[in-house]
Amino acid sequence: MERVYLNDDWKFTEEFSEKLIEKTYDDSGLLDVRLPHTCKEVPLHYFDEKEYQMVSGYRRVIHAPKKWKEKTLLLTFEGVAHDSRVYINGELVGEHHCGYTAFTVDISDKLILGESNVITVRVDSNESLNIPPFGFVIDYMTFGGIYRDVYIDVKNAIYIDDVFVMTKLAKAGANSATVSEVAVRGLKAGVSIRQSVRKKSADEEFQVLDEDYPADMNGAEKAEKADCEISNENAACDKTRTYTITHNTGKVDLWDVDNPVLYELKTELIYRGKVIDEKIITFGYRKAVFHEDGFYLNGKKLKIRGLNRHQSYPYVGYAMPESMQKMDADILKNELGLNAVRTSHYPQSHHFIDRCDELGLLVFTELPGWQHIGDEAWKLQAIENVKDMVKQYRNHASIILWGVRINESVDDDEFYERTNAAARALDPTRPTGGVRCYKNSNLLEDVYTYNDFLHNGKNKGCDKKTAVTSDMSKPYLISEYNGHMYPTKPFDWEEHRAEHAIRHANVLDEVAAQEDIAGSFGWCMFDYNTHKDFGSGDRICYHGVMDMFRNPKLAAAVYAIQQEEKPVLEISSSMDIGEHPGCNRGDIYILTNADSVKMYKNDKFIKEFFAEDTKYENLKHAPILLDDYIGDALEIGENMSHRQAEDLKQILNEAARVGINSLPRTMYLKAMRLVARYHMNMTDAVELYNRYIGDWGGSSTVYRFDAIKDGEVVKTVYRQPMKKVYIKADVDHTELSEKNTYDVAAVRITATDEYGNTLSFFNDPICLSVEGPVELIGPDIVCLSGGMGGTYIRTTGKTGKAELTISSAQAEAVTIDITII
Ligand code: GAL
Repeated sequence: MERVYLNDDWKFTEEFSEKLIEKTYDDSGLLDVRLPHTCKEVPLHYFDEKEYQMVSGYRRVIHAPKKWKEKTLLLTFEGVAHDSRVYINGELVGEHHCGYTAFTVDISDKLILGESNVITVRVDSNESLNIPPFGFVIDYMTFGGIYRDVYIDVKNAIYIDDVFVMTKLAKAGANSATVSEVAVRGLKAGVSIRQSVRKKSADEEFQVLDEDYPADMNGAEKAEKADCEISNENAACDKTRTYTITHNTGKVDLWDVDNPVLYELKTELIYRGKVIDEKIITFGYRKAVFHEDGFYLNGKKLKIRGLNRHQSYPYVGYAMPESMQKMDADILKNELGLNAVRTSHYPQSHHFIDRCDELGLLVFTELPGWQHIGDEAWKLQAIENVKDMVKQYRNHASIILWGVRINESVDDDEFYERTNAAARALDPTRPTGGVRCYKNSNLLEDVYTYNDFLHNGKNKGCDKKTAVTSDMSKPYLISEYNGHMYPTKPFDWEEHRAEHAIRHANVLDEVAAQEDIAGSFGWCMFDYNTHKDFGSGDRICYHGVMDMFRNPKLAAAVYAIQQEEKPVLEISSSMDIGEHPGCNRGDIYILTNADSVKMYKNDKFIKEFFAEDTKYENLKHAPILLDDYIGDALEIGENMSHRQAEDLKQILNEAARVGINSLPRTMYLKAMRLVARYHMNMTDAVELYNRYIGDWGGSSTVYRFDAIKDGEVVKTVYRQPMKKVYIKADVDHTELSEKNTYDVAAVRITATDEYGNTLSFFNDPICLSVEGPVELIGPDIVCLSGGMGGTYIRTTGKTGKAELTISSAQAEAVTIDITII
């Protein structure tokens, strides 16, 4: 009942050779590495995906203590990309053919006790493998290496193989029950099972549920499933025996997106009064159901609002430890205000999903794959992947849907009948979905999940359910939108970045309007490295609402304003007219979750924009067009009548947007009325335009925006010419600690003006240097891109104080203090 992590002390070579499996091989010349490990560190962009494709070798010496005698030793790899063979002391003991699911090898009789043993892993990260997701092109890099945790579980001969916790819920949480399938291996008579439960957040003791549950023959009447007969009371059965055990737990607190209460179920095996094994499973009581008209959580309809997430990071690909996995979940929930995520296009780290459980972030997870379906051998592997995915992830409260179709693949009923059956057999509690890009395709799943790329900026945000699904009686969910329809770089020109944001709002609003769409997942959370066949030619797909370092683009604010916890105020423009063709400002938007925003020009109040001023009808908070630069200044400052001021204001505001030469006819009619009635002439008009709108050749204006909530200013944004560049560094945590492996801190870096506004065209180099027991991941000179970038700091196994200094030719250096405990 002990877990020994094996993340440290590995030796690595990019070239596997058979010699590496020999116990006596002298590996002193190989590289020292720790896990998670990427087989190749890569540049941020502009590199060839061939770089990480190789057959590499990992070796680790493990001393097996004598006390492991008669123990069951289970060696688990949480994630190895992509095809692995595991050898112990030269003998092949296991293999696995999926880079995104875990595998366990029973090495009980493979280790020589009291001696050093050698584990060798041959890792093939070639994309030519005949396993998912390979076979054709893929719009994401698949990186290689042993990139998740490795550990040995030391168990007795009789042990708990698996526990699957399901729940039964009565109304309002009363009379709830746990229904658990407990699989015990090596069972013999006299062993019983005890289960206890506690609420996870509280410092509660485990409450023993019912009496001890006899797991031997006497318990057979309670067992609903048993795939192994115990013929002799004393003889151990080496197969797995599965019990379905139901316990009433009474009134419980539900797991919800706002209050994600988690419980723990402890299952113990007892033999002659001693606990010989135990397993603690974290779970939640919740009822997550898709109906014809949408998604319901605990009886309440909830519109799913999520983004797609890849599991990649700059430089190290997939290889990031717990803290970084968790950070992404925190960003999705707390910075972007989402209630859901789709783990496109494969199962992702349990650390990430654990955090989704804790935060109340709903998860749609799916089997690995991208558009291509291979031959029968490939399909058999895909079915194995479904089984592994469901078995390995089914206790997570946050997971609400299994994706059992290869993302965007064609119909293949025979294949998908098998993937559906595999998921349903292992988890009767969750529906299946499967992401397609075709309308009216064959629906073998419970939910029609579809990538809707209808929106092009001009038309409606998404199709209606009736236009897409083949079965109106089944639930319907949008699994992707936007993405390649409008790639956007942080350094794109301002109107492009604003359009990107508006397109996200357009889709969200339309989804909100469609009662029978369960919700949607936008493409995607952040930019990612992709193959030569996709992206912008630099091996980056710029589809994120954040950049690769998780710095927000403007579009991120469209999501962030949907939450109420933190005040958000973003103005889509820097208010520099020279950024726009003809100096015409185009459409400028206010994005806020406040009640209203007051705009001041050179400290003079112009207008208060209210949440209701938005043209969007279905979102609680949505972009508001900044359509007035004048307010009542004409009436008051120029002594005009209300009518005259209103007409003139409309003309000037429209001129600010589209330019004098592109004014619509209605504005010319108004202008003629002003000439006729008030004897205004062109010189007056130009003079007023310059005074109130500002134009090429005029002096720049200072703007201030105050976001107001419940009568108080909750956030202020200034727009005024910058005088100085500042470096801002946002570190996710400064106290790092090594638990089961190294820790990493993410540093998001922005160049700002004195008011905290990102300098969107600051693409300059910055230098990074560290002191103390840490190291940088990636280069020590990086260029910001659109004023944004970042770095990562990794611990080295030592404790103490460390520092990161970020310097630039133009800004004062910033130093971050770090403690490694
Ligand atoms: C989809 C695909 C995603 C991504 C996206 C870009 O077709 O499922 O993986 O490539 O397009 O918009």
